[in-house]
Amino acid sequence: MNILLIGSGGREHALAWAISASPLCDRLFIAPGNPGTAQCGDNVVLDIADHEAIINFCKLQRVGLVVVGPEGPLVEGIVDDLEAAGIKTFGPSRAAAQLEGSKAFTKELCAEFGIPTAAFARFDDPDAAKAYVAQHGAPLVIKADGLAAGKGVVMAETIEQANAAITMMFSGGLGTAGEEIVIEEWMIGEEASFFALCDGLHALPLASAQDHKRVGDGDTGPNTGGMGAYSPAPVMTKAMEARVMAEIIQPTLDGMARRGSPFKGVLFAGLMITADGPKLIEYNVRFGDPECEVLMPRLKSDLVPALLAARDGVLNAVDLRWSDDAALTVVMAAKGYPGTPENGSVIKGIDKAAGEKDVLVFHAGTQAKDGEIVANGGRVLNVVALGKSVSEAQAKAYAAVDLIDWPGGFCRRDIGWQAVKREREG
Ligand code: AMP
Ligand code: GLY
Repeated sequence: MNILLIGSGGREHALAWAISASPLCDRLFIAPGNPGTAQCGDNVVLDIADHEAIINFCKLQRVGLVVVGPEGPLVEGIVDDLEAAGIKTFGPSRAAAQLEGSKAFTKELCAEFGIPTAAFARFDDPDAAKAYVAQHGAPLVIKADGLAAGKGVVMAETIEQANAAITMMFSGGLGTAGEEIVIEEWMIGEEASFFALCDGLHALPLASAQDHKRVGDGDTGPNTGGMGAYSPAPVMTKAMEARVMAEIIQPTLDGMARRGSPFKGVLFAGLMITADGPKLIEYNVRFGDPECEVLMPRLKSDLVPALLAARDGVLNAVDLRWSDDAALTVVMAAKGYPGTPENGSVIKGIDKAAGEKDVLVFHAGTQAKDGEIVANGGRVLNVVALGKSVSEAQAKAYAAVDLIDWPGGFCRRDIGWQAVKREREG
């Protein structure tokens, strides 16, 4: 079967790597892809927003499955349009993508179906929001309702910070994403990302991971899309996974089906493991980036039949095997990120790093230029290593990072610190 993968990040290189290894995959196309995905298949120039163009391409190339990486096209309804044209597509419909596209939608679903999450209130005007803050006091979490590229959450430690965030959002600081806001209770606990494959009715647990959102060592500095990750997350024991499936994931699927918008695709739950048990922070409707880069290397089974089964509604017949090894990825970013990254600097030594045992290098914002790889984005490379423990994977990943010669880039030097500390303390 020919497969088209949509996207161009490190997540898509990891997916392209897994999909191209499947005996079921004849040709893999990636639109638009990056120099890393070009090693797994054929990059194609297609306007992702032009669904007609994608449909025509799929018909011409006899594409049997489309896999959508990022959330943008999902929220725009790419799955609805492709499926209506008779093209099998892995991912949620526009209606089901509301789980990521609207925080208020998800909070209402949680309230209706008893899914544990932070207490919350919704507001569409600043005065009512500020009155709520005055009544409840700090700390509080202020969130823009719509997609804000990871910048829509303000952790307000004081009433002044909460009010400033409300003013910023309602005065258009985040564009239309801030026309409506959600104010939440600030939950205390350890965070974990958990991924489940869904076919509308059934959910199959994938694996857990921990991301590192802040740009600087010791979890300091501004938020980013993620500076590194590891899998599995130690806090997600088998017992905790069972609770998350029973208390959060399955009720969400049941609720979405009851509402007439069954969820198919990858459900990515951002969780807070609190003293009262697991609580949902938020949903994403796709694989995480960089979490996907640590999930794919641990997956021993063929990914493609699982994606097809999720699309076809027969996931109950699928069983996936995972490596017991830990995987850890270090994101190498261009200087300036998460502000304006400096583009165009030359990166050497990628092949050397990728040639190390148990190491993979996934590209994100790279570009091939005159026979060299240059930086072309904020997050540029993912250096992934597998090990018997997170400590071992961390050591191998940083040894490989050190083989990359890129004066224009930087990375955090402490990815995995929580798990490494836990492993040291036994
Ligand atoms: P989100 O974009 O909703 O995932 O939020 C980004 C980050 O803000 C999360 O990864 C958490 O670290 C933090 N966060 C969001 N909501 C809460 C909450 N209600 N309580 C504590 N931390 C939160
Ligand atoms: N790494 C977080 C995300 O993909 O949303």
